[in-house]
Amino acid sequence: MAGSDVKPGATDWDALRGVQRERLQRITETAFAGGGKERIEKQHKAGKLTARERIELLLDPGSFVEMDRLRTHRCLDFHMEKNHPPGDGMVTGYGQVDGKHVFVFAQDFTVFGGSMSEVAAQKICKLYATAMKVGAPVIGLNDSGGARIQEGVASLAGYADIFCANTLASGVIPQLSVILGPCAGGAVYSPALTDFIVMVKDTSYMFLTGPDVIKQVTHEDVTMEQLGGAMTHSQKSGVAHFAVDDDTRAIMVVRELLGFIPSNNSEEPPQGKISDDPERKDEALKTLIPTNPNRPYDVRDVIKAVVDDRHFFEVQPHFAGNVVIGFARLMGQSIGVVANQPQVMAGALDIDGSDKAARFVRFCDCFNIPLLTLVDVPGFLPGTNQEYGGVIRHGAKLLFAYAEATVPKLTVILRKAYGGAYCVMAPKHLRADVNFALPTAEIAVMGAAGAVAIIQRDEIGKASDKDAKMKELVADYADKFQNPYKAAELGYIDEVIVPEDMRPRLCQALMLLRNKRDEIPPKKHGNIPL
Ligand code: HXC
Repeated sequence: MAGSDVKPGATDWDALRGVQRERLQRITETAFAGGGKERIEKQHKAGKLTARERIELLLDPGSFVEMDRLRTHRCLDFHMEKNHPPGDGMVTGYGQVDGKHVFVFAQDFTVFGGSMSEVAAQKICKLYATAMKVGAPVIGLNDSGGARIQEGVASLAGYADIFCANTLASGVIPQLSVILGPCAGGAVYSPALTDFIVMVKDTSYMFLTGPDVIKQVTHEDVTMEQLGGAMTHSQKSGVAHFAVDDDTRAIMVVRELLGFIPSNNSEEPPQGKISDDPERKDEALKTLIPTNPNRPYDVRDVIKAVVDDRHFFEVQPHFAGNVVIGFARLMGQSIGVVANQPQVMAGALDIDGSDKAARFVRFCDCFNIPLLTLVDVPGFLPGTNQEYGGVIRHGAKLLFAYAEATVPKLTVILRKAYGGAYCVMAPKHLRADVNFALPTAEIAVMGAAGAVAIIQRDEIGKASDKDAKMKELVADYADKFQNPYKAAELGYIDEVIVPEDMRPRLCQALMLLRNKRDEIPPKKHGNIPL
């Protein structure tokens, strides 16, 4: 009888099963132990959670399915052959957030400092390939010492493969990055290629070159926090979108953000329950916007008065405060809001404000999220700093983003809409769908005094009482142009509405546009002025 025909008895199978189960159990336990008790304690002492604790917080309970738990590195240098932790310092997999599938990778700082190995990069790329196939967001939980030093170029290649995956996924699936520890050198470019970055104050930092190199090259003294901490990137550079106090809050921001966005570019954004009366008229709107054009107000009060349940989820609240962006809902439908903020620099547009708004408009357009634009802008900020910094190029980005966007676009001119800034802030001419203005709107090339001083210089010069003549001409110009009626006569404004009607009229317009179909001419891609 041939050996292959010998069937093991039940006892043999059970014994074999037992051995295999033990082996699986052992590997699983090793993977779960990460870098061991001591390193986990060190992580906790630093105020940080471990990779697995973070994933558990992020996902709906019990929904995590790990991928590639058993992968190990294949480095043979620097005694690495003696240390093969399963998972290789990178936890990857999928699960659900509020019942919707998401993919997640988490760098485990307790294993080789969460450093990026060839295998860790391959795990991320496999995750991306699957996420792209099934159309689900990818969330990256970053906490890493950077390229795995022992592996050299194999690690760099892994990073570049990830950058490529990030780029190809951009606009197809949402990508969110959470920075929960170090993220330095070229490693910063993967988060930078994603849609939103959340950073934790005091424990996370991002920079290309660290304080020591800076000291050597430019002789500047700077701490890690000053150079690349959460507030630096949320306030100064605009690299990060949210700065929060700890890991738990960072993960809660991601969960809330996901509630506003669809899983991929061919899905509609989430439609929640209608929890607020679309016909609700907020009486406060009657007085929120001062009629005196020189008086500031907080445009966020106007946004809250209009959107469902007064809930506005502001994005980049600390950067370029002259422009406010964020998510809200109208009749349960996610919308992206862009507004000038008269409280900061009178709401004038500048380089940072234009970049901030342009990127947000493009995100919303990628993922089918309708846009509401609230306009109160005296123009572009003058000055050599702005001109030398390329405000022309940056302002053009915003024009480009609005003109190209095919999502429903609703615009309300609250007060000022002057000069080039009128043209930029989602006017009819950039294919906005419904354009309202309040009676307080002033839509003109420039303010009355400036306009009269230029075009009626001779008349004023000839007058015996120059001040009286100037006053009369300014009043005349203001009557003609410093209002919404000329623009309404020309059809650039569809309707002049009273402030308390904003919510009902916007809800009505959004319903009208629910099935909007629009496109841009076929092309490989446009050439946005970067
Ligand atoms: C391998 C690393 C590592 C790395 C840290 N470790 N960084 N192992 N490759 N890049 C290991 C440490 O040896 C240590 O192992 C453990 O992780 C924890 O590190 P500590 O230094 O003890 O932690 P801490 O004091 O908190 O300091 C963290 C740190 C520091 C600031 C990140 O470790 C550090 O400076 N690491 C090197 C950072 C770096 O230069 N990376 C390369 C950047 S260039 P044990 O066994 O002792 O626990 C780069 C290029 C990317 O990333 C380019 C992409 C295109």
